[in-house]
Amino acid sequence: MRQPQRVESPTQLPQQVTIWEVGPRDGLQNEKSIVDLETKAEFVRRLLAAGLPIVEATSFVHPKWVPQLADAKELMEGLINGFGTGTGPSSTTGPTRGARELPVLVPNERGLDRALELGLKHIAIFGSATETFANKNLNRSLDEQFAMFEPTVLRAREAGMDVRAYVSMCFGDPWEGDVPVDQVVSVGKRLFDLGASQLSLGDTIGVGTAGHVKRLLGAFGEAGLAVENLAVHFHDTYGQALANAYAALEAGVTTFDASAGGLGGCPYAESATGNLATEDLVWMLHGLGVETGVDLEALVTTSRWMAGKLGRPSPSRVVTALG
Ligand code: HMG
Ligand code: MG
Repeated sequence: MRQPQRVESPTQLPQQVTIWEVGPRDGLQNEKSIVDLETKAEFVRRLLAAGLPIVEATSFVHPKWVPQLADAKELMEGLINGFGTGTGPSSTTGPTRGARELPVLVPNERGLDRALELGLKHIAIFGSATETFANKNLNRSLDEQFAMFEPTVLRAREAGMDVRAYVSMCFGDPWEGDVPVDQVVSVGKRLFDLGASQLSLGDTIGVGTAGHVKRLLGAFGEAGLAVENLAVHFHDTYGQALANAYAALEAGVTTFDASAGGLGGCPYAESATGNLATEDLVWMLHGLGVETGVDLEALVTTSRWMAGKLGRPSPSRVVTALG
């Protein structure tokens, strides 16, 4: 399969980055039809086999809020302990990888209890930078969300878990419009200070542009957050995700969220479309000589397989070009 020509940038860039794959969670949470357990497990297994170091697998949210991921317990049980022969998908029999490489979304203590019961080691809480989205996505006010997250993070840390914190609507909100940088920094810092090891800055509806990305990253730096603790999470609604990723790379970011085949969106933010496609990100990074550890061919094959299961072509430009 064709690979990008490696031509290093004259500007200083990180030599190696971590791609945080969100396809099974952010991608599949938004599918109209519910993907079966066997396909989900196979998807995660293939992504790990393609060299993705972290695969966000599912969400321990209320099953009525996100019915697409209501099988979170069964999926994680099988992925961590192995699907016993005859009781689960034969192709995924046997344990896949350690629990730290398979984070799950957890909004509250109830979700944490479910994760602890399974011995999971890595969770992600997800806050909102705006009042309206906190209400729509979490059924909480902006302030109430912290009261929900605080004991969740505390107990997760006591149990030895890694905790990531997302902050959504960092670049614009469908109901409130522009979101001031100061507001995003204040909410993001508050979420991080609960005890997270990483803060992922979400452009939930994909409206951000490259200058805005640099401005926001700079503002977090001024507020005392090291760039090593920041990740970026771009949706591609306005076709800006790859340019925004490059801007973040130039600013020193080394963790990039992406979704295989460009799947994704948020069911509680109508204007959100798919995430930055992992293949498009990998093509750019490998072209720049930045290491990811990802096998592009295995990844493209996985996204084509998933597109077949979903019955529509992948929106990823690289998947299409290599088809
Ligand atoms: P609520 O209705 O306010 O919940 O929902 P509650 O605390 O009032 O509890 C009501 C009932 O739900 C109780 O049961 C709880 O036990 C149960 P009852 O006593 O009535 O029988 N319950 C649960 N059950 C299972 N698992 C749980 C759970 N929590 C409560 N975790 C809640 C509040 C947060 C639960 C709800 O709003 C929710 O689940 N929201 C999730 C929405 C979501 O998943 N959105 C998509 C992910 S975010 C995203 O995509 C953005 C991101 O990608 C970044 C970006 O792009 O910006 C991360
Ligand atoms: Mg998202």
